[in-house]
Amino acid sequence: MATARRRKIVAGNWKMNKTVPEALALVRDLRAQVASLGDTVEVVVAPPFVALQPLHVALEGAPLALAGQNCHWESSGAFTGEISAPMLAELGCAYVIVGHSERRQLFGDTDAQVNKRAKAVRAAGMTPIICVGETLAEREADQTLAVVERQVRGALEGFEAKDVASFVLAYEPVWAIGTGRNATAAQAQEVHAAIRGLVERLYDGETAGRVRIQYGGSVKADNAAELLGQPDVDGALVGGASLKAGDFAAIVKAAT
Ligand code: PGA
Repeated sequence: MATARRRKIVAGNWKMNKTVPEALALVRDLRAQVASLGDTVEVVVAPPFVALQPLHVALEGAPLALAGQNCHWESSGAFTGEISAPMLAELGCAYVIVGHSERRQLFGDTDAQVNKRAKAVRAAGMTPIICVGETLAEREADQTLAVVERQVRGALEGFEAKDVASFVLAYEPVWAIGTGRNATAAQAQEVHAAIRGLVERLYDGETAGRVRIQYGGSVKADNAAELLGQPDVDGALVGGASLKAGDFAAIVKAAT
């Protein structure tokens, strides 16, 4: 496998948190705290949809990219309550999270739907952050690698190597999300290496060497350096700890 230098990417998934004024205050603080870090790490925030436009304006020229938390696969039409990928692109989103476990578990997202969402994101000129991960029952049944492989294969169906090389995958064990119980660095590394190996089998060594794989699930300032120090961990997808500028900035610093 080609050894590529992958730029780390730390993304904050705010989920259904922060009103627009709160979102503006958070990025103002965050911007000040990450300003001195240069461009060694890519920093992304994924606020609720309604905050995207004001943040797009507020972040003009800032080294902070915007992401949507989900999108529909059609570009427009009679889909009440949904948001399309071109709409997110127009608001300055560079990334869209697809297949988050909360979408899969609470809203019934399937691997096929995750694939359609990722295709819409790509078609709109953005990069998908594709989330995969096993439940506690699946881990205890020794199904982790099988589940993650099924999810990665499903999400990447029909994509070419040149697309996948630019994608971000996020390994997020469901049992680690919002629980305060992160995967150990060794557990994360094992799954990340397996995912990269799968990408090499599905595509080629260069693609596998370039695709970035984030870890997510109870990432905090005090465990970030160890997780991010693993050879196949290229960044973090952060929920709870992304809601306070100081906590999130400390994780970004750990990635530098
Ligand atoms: P957490 O969430 O950091 O609060 O565990 C991670 C995620 O859901 O992306």
